[in-house]
Amino acid sequence: MPALFTPFTLKDVTLRNRIGVPPMCQYSARDGYVSEWHLPHYADIARGGAGLVIVEATAVSPEGRITPGCTGLWEDGQVEGMASIAHAIAAGGAVPGIQIGHAGRKASANKPWEGDDHIPNDQPGGWQTISPSALAFGGGLPKVPTEMTLDDIARVKRDFVAAAIRARDAGFKWLELHFAHGYLAQSFFSVHANTRTDAYGGDVTARSRFLIETLQAVREVWPENLPLTARFGVIEFDGRDEETLAEAIGLVKTFKNEGLDFLSVSMGFSTIEANVPWAPAFMAPIAKRVRDETGLAVGTAWGMDIPQDAERAIDEQQMDVVFAARAHLANPHYPFRVARELGLPAAGSVLPDQYAYWLRRYPGPQNGPVID
Ligand SMILES: Cc1cc2nc3c(=O)[nH]c(=O)nc-3n(C[C@H](O)[C@H](O)[C@H](O)COP(=O)(O)O)c2cc1C
Repeated sequence: MPALFTPFTLKDVTLRNRIGVPPMCQYSARDGYVSEWHLPHYADIARGGAGLVIVEATAVSPEGRITPGCTGLWEDGQVEGMASIAHAIAAGGAVPGIQIGHAGRKASANKPWEGDDHIPNDQPGGWQTISPSALAFGGGLPKVPTEMTLDDIARVKRDFVAAAIRARDAGFKWLELHFAHGYLAQSFFSVHANTRTDAYGGDVTARSRFLIETLQAVREVWPENLPLTARFGVIEFDGRDEETLAEAIGLVKTFKNEGLDFLSVSMGFSTIEANVPWAPAFMAPIAKRVRDETGLAVGTAWGMDIPQDAERAIDEQQMDVVFAARAHLANPHYPFRVARELGLPAAGSVLPDQYAYWLRRYPGPQNGPVID
């Protein structure tokens, strides 16, 4: 039995295998409400066999959306559509997860395939962004955000809590706080985005404060028996990597003490100057280091989709869950492909009976080979 296909239990939740689908924005919502696009998209992927399916970055407030097409959980009416998705994922046999976040200075952008750049404030979809400091990200995201007041900080933390409650009410069993990728929380942590001189900026303790307080506040409302997780950029690939990693790992230890159950190890994306060493499985050693030094369960994405790499990552205890994103866009039944390549007996059983049965039948020459 490949290690990748062993179950993984965290709190009261068991993933049927170690393949997770990380959040992937679909840019197809209207006013934060899911559309006709979302349900079949998530249902197909869940039926494909993954153990965990995390719904896309969902904004805790309207100005926290990356694009006008991003999903939200800032009002109660948005719960019903999300509940259908959570239900469909669970019906497909996967654990339903969701990522909640605030895009900070990277908000108010066009869809990736329509430019991925900031929408001017005087155009539809354009709004004033907020961030720890009035520093633009740069490149195609040149808007200078408004520096957040202490009231803004308190309000966004409350928004995270309210969105977590709605995620819980919608039936999600795995909550991921978006603390990565240069969005609001990552910006508080990053020296590239945070030049505040108050309690929320300066040394690493101050730059960590927003993330810790948000986690603590959400921990109060998220059920104890369900995984509370975060995605966090522990490295920027900006030339000061050892320093960032040491600070980030220190913060992850605090997260663990405050009740975090799992970390999706990722990158900071806080500066356009980053020089990311793209290669298959390049984040795996970093995930392993976070796991070894914190004792927290971890996973990572970023080119983990070669089956042998994924298997090795679990077998050698580099991580607990392997995330495969784009592989699931190419083939929602990607776990079946992995199962076959790794020689899982009766690989078809990764899929639901409605499909699996037929992959094992029709062995006669007139009907083609067994696909299993
Ligand atoms: C269409 C698309 C949307 C994405 N949206 C999100 C998101 O909502 N939240 C997030 O943390 N990462 C997001 N990502 C990053 C993925 O979760 C993942 O880290 C990345 O695609 C690398 O993994 P892969 O090599 O398996 O594709 C997105 C990626 C894609 C391709």
